Amino acid sequence: MAVWRTIAEERIYSAVDEPWTVEQERAYLKALSPREAVHIAVAGSGTIAGFQSLDLWAASIRSMMHVAQIGTFLLPEWRRCGVGSALFEATRAFARDVHYGKIVAQVRASNGPAQAFYHRLGFRACGRLTRQVRIDGMEDDEILMEFFL
Ligand SMILES: CC(C)(COP(=O)(O)OP(=O)(O)OC[C@H]1O[C@@H](n2cnc3c(N)ncnc32)[C@H](O)[C@@H]1OP(=O)(O)O)[C@@H](O)C(=O)NCCC(=O)NCCS
Repeated sequence: MAVWRTIAEERIYSAVDEPWTVEQERAYLKALSPREAVHIAVAGSGTIAGFQSLDLWAASIRSMMHVAQIGTFLLPEWRRCGVGSALFEATRAFARDVHYGKIVAQVRASNGPAQAFYHRLGFRACGRLTRQVRIDGMEDDEILMEFFL
């Protein structure tokens, strides 16, 4: 919850501008299917540094069961230390184990660091949703990036 709160307050890194409540987060975690996961990065002190989620792209469409959606969110003090890359090692192995063929990331067009991060992991930009996000009266596009397993 603290990670979500921080990201939502920063306003610039995610389409999510309002953190979920504890109840909403709990319901989301409980509803995860065996092919979905949230991997958490825990610091030596025991505090959570961030997480990476892997969800079905479209749970109700059978022809897209091979497609997953990824999200990565770290607290500011843990960024650019290799944590996101380490999380992807776990997420990629999990995605292979549960038979996904590809992973898609949706990244705000203004979020250059996240695009550089996913590009470094092997994702390629493959599309753009124009004026997809509206936060504080400002519009942003979303870049679609895909990774084939
Ligand atoms: C984007 C984010 C998930 C990346 O995770 P990270 O742990 O910071 O990334 P890593 O340290 O594993 O970086 C791996 C590579 O990605 C690229 N990269 C990561 N952050 C970057 C940045 N700020 N600027 C440019 N390239 C960057 C680099 O190539 C980096 O390798 P290098 O450090 O050897 O040059 C993290 O910074 C974050 O949580 N940002 C805020 C939330 C966010 O934007 N999430 C994505 C929403 S779609």
